[in-house]
Amino acid sequence: MDQKSIQAAVATLRAGGLVVFPTETVYGLGADAANASAVRKIFAAKGRPADHPVIVHLASERQLSQWASEIPPAAEQLAERFWPGPLTLIVKRAKSVIDEVTGGQDTIGLRVPSHPVAQALLQAFGGGIAAPSANRFGHISPTTAGHAREELGDRVDLILDGGACEVGIESTIVDVSGGTPVLLRPGRVSEEEIEAVLQIPLAHAGAGSPRVSGTLAAHYAPHLPLMIASSGMLDAVVREQASRQLVAVLARRPRPSYSSATVWMVGPRDAAEFAHYLYAGLRQLDQCGCNVIIVEAPPETPDWAAVRDRVGRAAVGSGAKPIAADSAVSTA
Ligand code: TXA
Ligand code: MG
Repeated sequence: MDQKSIQAAVATLRAGGLVVFPTETVYGLGADAANASAVRKIFAAKGRPADHPVIVHLASERQLSQWASEIPPAAEQLAERFWPGPLTLIVKRAKSVIDEVTGGQDTIGLRVPSHPVAQALLQAFGGGIAAPSANRFGHISPTTAGHAREELGDRVDLILDGGACEVGIESTIVDVSGGTPVLLRPGRVSEEEIEAVLQIPLAHAGAGSPRVSGTLAAHYAPHLPLMIASSGMLDAVVREQASRQLVAVLARRPRPSYSSATVWMVGPRDAAEFAHYLYAGLRQLDQCGCNVIIVEAPPETPDWAAVRDRVGRAAVGSGAKPIAADSAVSTA
């Protein structure tokens, strides 16, 4: 990324404009986190409810104290171990933080991204950049600059192209603002890795705090209905659906010669690689001219937790009806 593009992005942020920038997880829709009218533009561009808080991105852990009123030992330990990287920490907000960022709550989400372009931008800007994922509310997060442009187009002032995002799904979110740390959203940084640092088990968020859009049951959804079929039932479900409509499949094994699917996409067998590929794959399937997407259920092992979470929410968000009389198939 050339210095000129970074300077243009900094000038846009200082002028209260919106900048799409790459992070290692997904592309962010950024605004100056200290500028209320700039942050309000984020919500307008996304079509997102105004009381949903946004993550503030920082260049370095050293800025934590400017944004947090309390830094509990758990926050310090996790920041030390995982920043810069795909982890967001929820902490008590500093007094100076504006309500537009926190949705009026007394906590704030903070993250130091590792992507070189995000780092260059944050260092040149100096302040915090408020940024949700650069997609329309409820839709799939963009993992390329082109996908961000498809989502937001001329609703933003500038798009920095940093190539395809390595992680491919949003950051892990841990709330360390209360007593027991709570996992609000699974991601590349796993529950096991976090517990290994904290030496205590994480609590889990109750069914969908309405203030955390990423934990709404329905989110991260393609436009087409999306169904999940267990590996054992996949062929039968595809056959049944294909008798009525055009079926696109995202599986982890090759297409059987007898399959009546119209499109069959093979995803990686490794969880991290599958996550990297998931949103781009769903976007492609969304536009392939089929009527329904059927995803082979991810394995039940811990390494697949984040992918299971996103695919599950995509299924709910797409509004697919469960297939009657088949307990092996669900849309959640
Ligand atoms: O990987 C990521 O986290 C990406 C990149 C751009 O950094 N960002 C992202 O932002 O996914 P967003 O807004 O799409 O999702 C952030 C989630 C939302 O569900 C939001 O409600 C939650 O974090 N969040 C932010 N601040 C919070 C707070 N103070 N308390 C609870 N949840 C919070
Ligand atoms: Mg989002």
